[in-house]
Amino acid sequence: MREHLIRYALLLIALLPGIRVISVSAQDNLPASHEAAALLRVPPGFEATIYAEGQNFGLPTQIAFGPDGNLYVLSLAGSLYRLIDADGDDYAETVETAFWDGDLNYITEQNVEQVAQLPDQLYHAVGLAFHDDQVFVSDSGRISQLIDTNDDGTYDTVKPIVTGLVSLQYEGHSNNGIAFGPDGKLYVGVGATSDHGPLHDPLEAAILRMNPDGSGLEVFASGLRNPYDLVFTPEGDLFATDNNPTEIDRTLRFVPPEELNFIEQGQDYGFPRVFGSPPPGDASAAPVTEFYPSVTSAGIDYYDDGPFPAAWREGVYVAQWGTGADVMVNRNLGFGFAVVFVPLAKDAQGRYHGDFVEFASSATGRAADFRPIDVTIGPDGALYIIEFFSSRIFRVTYSGVIAPVEATAEASAEPLPAVPPEVLVRGQTLFNNGARNAPACVSCHRLDGDPNSLGPSLRGLRDRAGSRVPGMSAVEYVRLSILNPQAYAVEGYNASYMPQIYGQALSDDDLDALIAFVLRLEVENAG
Ligand code: HEC
Repeated sequence: MREHLIRYALLLIALLPGIRVISVSAQDNLPASHEAAALLRVPPGFEATIYAEGQNFGLPTQIAFGPDGNLYVLSLAGSLYRLIDADGDDYAETVETAFWDGDLNYITEQNVEQVAQLPDQLYHAVGLAFHDDQVFVSDSGRISQLIDTNDDGTYDTVKPIVTGLVSLQYEGHSNNGIAFGPDGKLYVGVGATSDHGPLHDPLEAAILRMNPDGSGLEVFASGLRNPYDLVFTPEGDLFATDNNPTEIDRTLRFVPPEELNFIEQGQDYGFPRVFGSPPPGDASAAPVTEFYPSVTSAGIDYYDDGPFPAAWREGVYVAQWGTGADVMVNRNLGFGFAVVFVPLAKDAQGRYHGDFVEFASSATGRAADFRPIDVTIGPDGALYIIEFFSSRIFRVTYSGVIAPVEATAEASAEPLPAVPPEVLVRGQTLFNNGARNAPACVSCHRLDGDPNSLGPSLRGLRDRAGSRVPGMSAVEYVRLSILNPQAYAVEGYNASYMPQIYGQALSDDDLDALIAFVLRLEVENAG
């Protein structure tokens, strides 16, 4: 596995003051799916292949399929690239520049002259939407339409439809992702002018709405710290991610969870008073789900109907770029580095809530190798993911079978039966979130082999479970470990730490789902 990775020489060249990425991929004859499998872990039954790589998109921020069926990539600097898969082999062999911005991430004293010579520029471009065969881009303080005046297939003119939005007064916060609603209006998320207050501008920390020509600008919903991307479901319900504060000080003593919110007109989502779920008595809207702190939730898309199994449909996929909060990075704490899925179902009161499950993460053994910045669902029903630093684009499809796991050379590692995808989703949901009266397993068990937690890492458990107790199968050993942790204590750990209540708190089906999930965790790679 390792040698495949080495073939990708990722050369990070820090340019003042931005970062530019050049990725070089050596030619080889392995099918792209083998390379992808070494880089990206997806749930059983899914397959990841590489859709594009070796490209330098600068720092990509958004991907979207255009009306021509091609995938477009927007860079932070403001260039737009068109990826073409002419031979239909699910690999984009041609990349065209649909709008060239010079790819200058920052205007500096050194490049100011170069910038002046460009016909039209975008700056800090983080929103992209196609609507009625037109393309719209959200860049610092503006939303514009890109126009191809001479019909040569390249956009040459930036036609602003709204300007003067709150932008970059605080770190990377600007007007972010854009989407058109069923009402034909254009919606945009705008970040706050501070980490956690105070507010300075009536149009910050909000979702704004306007007519497609920029007229009628109004606040649609407020109290969102940095709603980075937003998406409408086919029913017309709007969802947005929200990045919560990352700086701790006298007024905020912790790094709060990030959020996925169901956005309703006129609602207040609590910023800068409330982060995460509102305390009793506070009238602000509760999130659909809370993510871990500082996962840096970026691009989102809604998966409606398609070839994915039911457990992975009718919900949003969220690209979580990974922890950026200094207080966490400095202590080697990181969350995110994954694409997660939140199933969305409305309850009788018309509210949404859902627990997230992980969908895609790094397979290299180093979580931070994978920094997804955006996802989009293709016309083919596949999920496309773009990785920030390598500009690599993955295409994830469902093969329709969760194959039984074969027995390994060790006689003790029995084969595992095939399971339907919803069982694994249930297992992962319980593992990460727990249930009523059942603490989440993830609070003590890591999956990445890190030995510094209360319970042993469960990565590669299947290799060990069948040989822990002579004569006891892996499935039975795990069942017993959950129901009666003290029966067999793993050396070096204190068995009394593990709650002894799972037998009462979990149904038999839940227990089976948990066992199926933990026994299918990637087998530890000895080599
Ligand atoms: C409060 C901490 C804590 C929580 C929560 C917890 N565990 Fe544990 N777990 C431990 C400790 C400590 C051990 C090691 C001692 C032992 O073997 O009993 C352990 C052992 C295990 C083992 C045996 C691992 C091996 O390598 O043999 C399994 C399997 C396991 N836990 C599964 C779970 C599952 C599934 C959940 C959630 C339903 C869970 N645990 C929740 C602390 C915890």
